[in-house]
Amino acid sequence: MNPNKALWEKGDFTKIAETMREGGDALVESLGLRKGMKILDLGCGDGTTAIPAARRGADVLGVDIARNLVEAGSRRAQAEGLSNCRFQEGDATDLQGLADDSFDLTVSFFGAMFAPKPFDVAKEIVRVTRPGGRIVMGNWIPNDPTLVAQILKISSAYTPPPPEGFVSPMTWGVESNVTERFVAAGARADRVSFARDTFTFRLAGAPSEPLAIFRTYYGPTMNAYEAASSGGRGADLQKELEALFESQNSSGRSDATSVPATFLRVTVAV
Ligand SMILES: C[S@@+](CC[C@H](N)C(=O)[O-])C[C@H]1O[C@@H](n2cnc3c(N)ncnc32)[C@H](O)[C@@H]1O
Repeated sequence: MNPNKALWEKGDFTKIAETMREGGDALVESLGLRKGMKILDLGCGDGTTAIPAARRGADVLGVDIARNLVEAGSRRAQAEGLSNCRFQEGDATDLQGLADDSFDLTVSFFGAMFAPKPFDVAKEIVRVTRPGGRIVMGNWIPNDPTLVAQILKISSAYTPPPPEGFVSPMTWGVESNVTERFVAAGARADRVSFARDTFTFRLAGAPSEPLAIFRTYYGPTMNAYEAASSGGRGADLQKELEALFESQNSSGRSDATSVPATFLRVTVAV
């Protein structure tokens, strides 16, 4: 099985996505959508951004490598009667069946960054976005002090080194890497722009609750716990992550969690 697919089908990302509903809506609000706009949401998960985009009248296709998430997204769209929101399985490195120039807007929030072969990903995103269209990506930033970058950093210290030639997903959070990839895909360097933005995870419950959710349902964290436990370091990992979640809770309450996380917002005018 493709390890990239196996990682995201492991656990149940929908449990994390439940803490991303308001943040996903805010992201979509910031996109300035028009009714009928054709949107591709790549690495869409269960529709964190695809569903709010469809609620605003866009014609949305969500593509994700994980079958369970595609099914979950389809169920959510169906439950809301959103016939303008479809989900299908696909790999961001090779968007088979998607024609050139077919979307007005391609978005990928914390999605395509996790695919291997980043140059292929950029090439596919540019290929399917029409000239005059737009690409918007949200990517976590390496060594950023906020939640997700820190979870991935701490987790990687407990997992075996990646195979030779592995390109870290976090390189999508480095401006020079992103520009290089989109320019190689045919975009103009002066049409690639960057901004720091914030995504807020929200949950009713103490900060220990989201950590339990990540530990039980988030593939990368599950792998880190498995590796740490087999090396007798499970308790150390738990302590580090507990301290992280505690320090990141900005709700000012012990019974509610609100965690703002910084990301790199990439916009490409195609
Ligand atoms: C952190 S989740 C984000 C999901 C969604 N965008 C959200 O914000 O809730 C990363 C997503 O990227 C998807 N993904 C990872 N590698 C992929 C690939 N090669 N092609 C398509 N999707 C991929 C995963 O299955 C997962 O749904």
